[in-house]
Amino acid sequence: MERVIAACKQALAKDGHVLALTGAGISAESGIPTFRGKEGYWTVGARDYHPQELATHDAFARMPWDVWAWYLYRRGVCRAAEPNAGHAALVRWGKALPDRFGLITQNVDGLHARAGSPREHTYPIHGDINLMRCTADCVLDRWPIPETVPALGKGDAVTDEVKTQLRCPHCGGMTRPHVLWFDESYDEPRFFLDTARRLAAKATLLVVAGTSAQTNLPWQVVTLAARAGATIVDVNTEDNPFAEIAAESGGAVRGSAAAILPVLVDALV
Ligand code: APR
Repeated sequence: MERVIAACKQALAKDGHVLALTGAGISAESGIPTFRGKEGYWTVGARDYHPQELATHDAFARMPWDVWAWYLYRRGVCRAAEPNAGHAALVRWGKALPDRFGLITQNVDGLHARAGSPREHTYPIHGDINLMRCTADCVLDRWPIPETVPALGKGDAVTDEVKTQLRCPHCGGMTRPHVLWFDESYDEPRFFLDTARRLAAKATLLVVAGTSAQTNLPWQVVTLAARAGATIVDVNTEDNPFAEIAAESGGAVRGSAAAILPVLVDALV
């Protein structure tokens, strides 16, 4: 850990953005399943109901209320969870570096925002499970899912009463969850594609926490940051492709995000 902290301090002495890139692993200790872990959504799901198919525009077109039901169930799981020490550490880091810090997260659970990470420097590149938007894209806006929409239990159906609340406030049409599905592409207005790439290309330090490196834009972020000469640190309980890249600069730290990020951040702040 000492060597990692020393490498981070050297990077902080140079100009450039200071970035954190997070995945489901940072919320694991808040009780939200990861996707590809032993009890992960895609792992368990594959046995029961193939959620990876549900997380597609194609499925939404064929069975919109089954897809809504699954996201309202996951929304309930996320709202019942509390941010942990890992989320809190990144809030402190952001506060200490208001002009340089950026938080790029794959998580749709909203825990970074609930921990206090300000919208101005938090970029949810896969969307937010608490938001809905118009299926017809009548406008680019997204709206909070009404508080009166209850959490659904696993396998529960969406009631007619709830269906009336999931209407587009602008055109009255059907809404959809504001998440990026597997058969969809990143863009800037909704998923911060250009922002994430721009920040990475000018980064001096990138701390990656709790991701298995299975999705596209995070790879672009890590690759662009490495090409910009940034120091990269990987925090994960297991080995993963980003750890190999981090080993060439800042280093890979094995362990939980909630345990390691506070130590790392407090040593740097
Ligand atoms: N602390 C740190 N890392 C952890 C912890 C923890 N407490 N628990 C698990 N991990 C690590 C795992 O070892 C794994 O590498 O977190 C990672 C979680 O990987 P995934 O479940 O694949 O989640 P993620 O990488 O965020 O998935 C990326 O894929 O399915 C899509 O849109 C979905 O945003 C998601 C994206």
